[in-house]
Amino acid sequence: DPDRERYHTIRSEIISGPVTDWATDFSHLDPRWSEDPFPIMDDLRQRCPIAHTERFGGAWVPTLYEDIAAIAHDTDRFSSRSVNVTNFRPPRDLAPIGELPPITSDPPFHHGARKLLLPAFTKTAVAKLESTTRAYCHSLIDGFTGRDVVDGAEDYAQRIPEQVIGDLLGIPQGDRKQFRELIANMNREDTQGSRDDHVEQLSKMFVFLLAEIKEHVKNPREDLITYLLNMELHGRKLEPTHIISMMLLLFAAGIGTTSKSIGSSLWHLA
Ligand code: HEM
Repeated sequence: DPDRERYHTIRSEIISGPVTDWATDFSHLDPRWSEDPFPIMDDLRQRCPIAHTERFGGAWVPTLYEDIAAIAHDTDRFSSRSVNVTNFRPPRDLAPIGELPPITSDPPFHHGARKLLLPAFTKTAVAKLESTTRAYCHSLIDGFTGRDVVDGAEDYAQRIPEQVIGDLLGIPQGDRKQFRELIANMNREDTQGSRDDHVEQLSKMFVFLLAEIKEHVKNPREDLITYLLNMELHGRKLEPTHIISMMLLLFAAGIGTTSKSIGSSLWHLA
């Protein structure tokens, strides 16, 4: 039903169980994939360079660089609206902005939505966060004194990006505990798990961020929230929902990636 696809999130049938053939029944949730994806990729490149699956409402898996590059550049035929391979597909009507701009945005909207963020991530802008970040890392390590066992992932790696993004956005110290809990609850989402639970966590985060935005409207200061509040796109101030979705993307894109690379680096060095 085209209208359903247009206005509603599509929930597809959950197909679980071990993969029977990677070329026709692909699943990134199969433990063999997370264990070692490389031989599987090598095999697919030889045998079936664009694999397919009926899982997750149907998906294609290109494995060759040339195909991936061609698809990434062919924005007329391939949308960025649905960036996660899950059993839920966002409504088509969210295009061109998508759920989490700019990663879910299509051109030409994408260009402006991305450009908006760039000044906040220049070398100079990021360097301003360095000394407080360094001090925070030291304080975490100092906190380990007297402990026999420390979980480097939970107690160290995971904590740093949350703190840095909190600093970047300008979340007041008094709200940090709640901010950390909200992020932890959002990240606990299991891709096969309950969408309702996820939506509930997301709404709590939404309410929290909206309150932060209102507070920043009253008391502007030098941080990313104030910067985004002052920004204009196509001659208009951004909607609070656009600002919130961008923040949600920073959590989704900036926390798992960096905490896992810090954790993996520690593991590698050990
Ligand atoms: C090890 C760390 C990271 C890795 C490996 C990583 C990886 C990626 C990848 C593969 C993309 C998709 C690019 C594309 O589709 O063209 C992306 C996009 C993005 N990432 Fe990261 N990322 C990391 C850290 C971060 C951090 C710390 C932030 C922000 C706080 C961030 C914000 C974004 C944003 C906003 C986009 C969307 C860009 C756009 O649509 O134009 N990422 N990242």
